[in-house]
Amino acid sequence: MPSHTEQIKSRLSILDVVGSYVKLERAGSNYKARCPFHNEKTASFFVSPGRDTYHCFGCNRGGDIFSFIQEAEGLDFFESLKLLAERAGVPLDSIESRFSGEKDRLYALLEDATVFFTEHLYKRKDVLGYLEERGLTPETIKNFRLGFSPNAWRDTILFLSRKGYTPGEIVKAGLAIQKSDARNDGKDIYYDRFRGRVMFPTENSTGRIVGFSGRIFDGEARVSSESDIPPAKYINTPQTMLYDKSHILYGYAKAKDAMRKEGVCILVEGQMDVILSHQAGFSNTVGVSGTALTTEHVTLIRRLSDTLILAFDADAAGRNAMESAAKKALNVALTVKAISFDGKKDPADFIRDDESTYKKLLQEAPHVVLFLMAVLRKEEKDALSFKRAVQKHVIPILAVMGNKIEQSHFTAGVAEGLGVKEDILYEEIARSFSEKDSANGESTTLPSLQIVPVKRRKDRIIEQVTGVMLWQESLSEKILDVSLIHKTFTEILDIPFDVSLQAFPEEEKSRLLFEAEMFYANSGNLTEILEELFMNLREEVTKEALRDVLQKIKKAEQEDNQKLVLKYLEECKILTSQLNKIKSRHLNGVFSNI
Ligand code: CTP
Ligand code: MN
Repeated sequence: MPSHTEQIKSRLSILDVVGSYVKLERAGSNYKARCPFHNEKTASFFVSPGRDTYHCFGCNRGGDIFSFIQEAEGLDFFESLKLLAERAGVPLDSIESRFSGEKDRLYALLEDATVFFTEHLYKRKDVLGYLEERGLTPETIKNFRLGFSPNAWRDTILFLSRKGYTPGEIVKAGLAIQKSDARNDGKDIYYDRFRGRVMFPTENSTGRIVGFSGRIFDGEARVSSESDIPPAKYINTPQTMLYDKSHILYGYAKAKDAMRKEGVCILVEGQMDVILSHQAGFSNTVGVSGTALTTEHVTLIRRLSDTLILAFDADAAGRNAMESAAKKALNVALTVKAISFDGKKDPADFIRDDESTYKKLLQEAPHVVLFLMAVLRKEEKDALSFKRAVQKHVIPILAVMGNKIEQSHFTAGVAEGLGVKEDILYEEIARSFSEKDSANGESTTLPSLQIVPVKRRKDRIIEQVTGVMLWQESLSEKILDVSLIHKTFTEILDIPFDVSLQAFPEEEKSRLLFEAEMFYANSGNLTEILEELFMNLREEVTKEALRDVLQKIKKAEQEDNQKLVLKYLEECKILTSQLNKIKSRHLNGVFSNI
């Protein structure tokens, strides 16, 4: 029986899947479009219906329907499999029960709990009144499925038990706390984690509820707190099988479309900020839930947007969080901008009072480096303290920038702003790499972007030949004699083609294939082109061998080993004559000589 992925692929064409995200236009035997994954004016995104693959020459993303859905929807492989299986009508029973029996029960439990909390909210006119006063409309309350947890010790547990969930499951879902009771022979007792709180359900990237944040309501939670310590303003679901705060952004599932369409993501700190942003039409807004922005969060954002606007609280904690978030995002070469709200605490307050100014702020948001420079200039009274502040807050940000062009641009700008030479700044940047980030005890030296090395001519030719081969192999009626190409390849490089192929990652292969097809599909004499490629390859290989032998001669001379010197000189002679032959063979063709 074909695998699940094969079954799905046989029912869904890549044109159907990709076509529901972008407008495809015919281009020969392929289709092209403006890439859905990065901003571009001209189409460099190609889809091959014959091979069921896509590739973008602009951002080098490529793959099949599953990788497309992963990228487009911000999902992992299994989630993309589920989504496409549903669309294709392929049942996944066997996988589901193997992978997610326990998880599915927890999802169902959290869904039931959400209904319970929302129903309870509608009985509490005072809580509804509070939400209304914060500026939320009834539709928004419904859309974000806000609720209220009863101010009691076991109401939630009781409700869920009646639904058939075990106390263990309620604990695993993060809704109950389990403790051994000293007064009762150390037997375990269970009680509700969220009591008398406004409940904000948190969705994962597919929109399923995986946890909650609970906001204190009017001191109500204080009454039933276990100790004298004042309760926290917000409490969140702890780490569970489904909920990991370092992987989840509040509002992400609802923000995805807008993030993709606009290429911009707005990041705020609080649940209220996210909700009021969406309500006001800024639906590309997401939030972190009581944690610093992590590398995983940045990955989620970068899948859909290339610009991030930080809209954090205007207090010291907000500023710290902003600097730390900026570093994480700049490091992976996102463009990062920032805004702040004079006189107001956070986006929630600002939007409620003045939506249109908030919009203007976003549109005119400066790059985070310029933002910080302006803030520090205003805060610091004299030139020296300004310089010190820049050294402390801006240089570490310049240091981690993944986009080196942007880095040199802003380094030059900051140098000018400070009235110091650029060299001095670069020295400081280098130094900040070796220092620890005192704020979070973490090194500022984040893994930087990979630098693409300049390719040798030999490697470029191997790539071109590989592309032609992959293309030919994908055709039912081949233009070239594939086995002859295999043979020639192995003869020249002394490795089988299949082995060489293993060195290429999948998306690289798809790029090479598309490239070969585009370059050569309509060019007349393919055999001649390939002969030329092979000849050039042979030339490079011979040159390489010659360089190698010359090195050996040098070494043998140093060691005064005359016998070896003579042996290598002989090899050298042979290689040189081979090289000359190759050069003179330019008109004869490669295949005639094997
Ligand atoms: N937070 C948290 N735990 C706390 C305090 C805050 O997880 N003890 C998180 C919550 O996600 C909260 C965000 O940090 O939404 C911002 O906190 P804060 O600025 O203190 O609250 P406000 O956004 O002003 O909260 P609200 O609008 O609900 O009054
Ligand atoms: Mn806030």
